[in-house]
Amino acid sequence: MLTMNRRAAFRSLMGFAAASPLFAQNPPEDDVMGPVNIHEFEAVARRKLHKMAYDFIAGGVEDELTLRANREAYKHWYLVPRVMTDVSEVDTSLELFGARVPSPILVAPTGGKNLVLPNAEAVVAKACAKTNTLFCTGSGAERAVDEATANIHWWSNTIGQANKKDAQGYARRIEDRGAKAITVTVDNQYQSNRDRNNRNRFDYGYMATGVPAGGEKPKPRNPALAAHWQPHTPNLTWDYIDWLRSASSLPVILKGILSPEDAETAVKHGASGIIVSNHGGRQLDGVIATIDALPDVVDAVGGKVPVLMDGGLRRGSDILKALALGAKAVLVGRPPLWGLGAFGQPGTERVLWMLGAELKLSMALAGKASLAQIDRKLVRRIG
Ligand SMILES: Cc1cc2nc3c(=O)[nH]c(=O)nc-3n(C[C@H](O)[C@H](O)[C@H](O)COP(=O)(O)O)c2cc1C
Repeated sequence: MLTMNRRAAFRSLMGFAAASPLFAQNPPEDDVMGPVNIHEFEAVARRKLHKMAYDFIAGGVEDELTLRANREAYKHWYLVPRVMTDVSEVDTSLELFGARVPSPILVAPTGGKNLVLPNAEAVVAKACAKTNTLFCTGSGAERAVDEATANIHWWSNTIGQANKKDAQGYARRIEDRGAKAITVTVDNQYQSNRDRNNRNRFDYGYMATGVPAGGEKPKPRNPALAAHWQPHTPNLTWDYIDWLRSASSLPVILKGILSPEDAETAVKHGASGIIVSNHGGRQLDGVIATIDALPDVVDAVGGKVPVLMDGGLRRGSDILKALALGAKAVLVGRPPLWGLGAFGQPGTERVLWMLGAELKLSMALAGKASLAQIDRKLVRRIG
């Protein structure tokens, strides 16, 4: 339970934020919400969600080394702020693939949102439309944006199609639908081996239907562990970028790059952007934390295309570190789902607002009035 003191602290943070010229956008109205940070949203969502759903979202692969590393790694990057700069106004807007967007914080593609509540993709899309957040749909969930608003800024996500004809058909379809970019998830060749899901007898069909209601029996465990060797797109190669580009004018952004060599190759093959990502620690365990992978990828790309990043971002100061290490923008996967699980659409709106507010305040306290002023001198790796 949240104590009255913590509720009061939350209200005063929000009161300060709403009154300050730093925060043009007021927090979503709902005094019932107690969490003062993303971790507390997760705690509320955990209490409310079915264990199978919570574990699916929170979990990583096998021993969850990378899941933990994604968070832990922020601890060895320290900020070195500047002072005596005028930060009475802080501007987080930026130009991204030809569009002006108000914030460098995007919603990452996540499958299985219906585990939280029915029609959840559309609900999150609405929260994004309301908070003016760039929304990346879950794979195959583009229809959800039709239910949001006409002016939502969204990118599509795909794990790829098996052949050129289908890839071109997909690219044309989603361009017609109004997507502003295609993100291709390149680290999803096979369904990974997730112990929590295996233990819970999680059936991947639940991602669409939601988990069995109370009293209903879960499906029997597949003796061969359903997760093993289930192919997604094992034959995806660099040609795929050409297939998409031959059918549409949309930027093609590769999500799931960790190696500088792959980043260089992607640029050579015409990728318009790179997302440094390890799928939130959900694909291959033991891979490098994204904040640690980021600087080498940024150096390899050398400014030819924007480099974005996701993984473990839970605070505005985490986001500031990523921006300082060269990320043009960042994506968050679990946080909007924790807001959704805790309080539905207003919870997701609050989470997105809160991360944006924390980023602005962190920038102000670091002496940075705009994203353009943030550079590598702001961070130092210790340990
Ligand atoms: C429940 C869940 C489902 C996800 N589904 C997808 C997916 O379908 N495609 C994809 O590229 N990434 C997927 N991801 C990974 C996210 O896009 C993102 O890379 C990751 O969540 C970022 O880490 P964070 O959750 O710590 O912010 C998923 C992540 C979660 C938590």
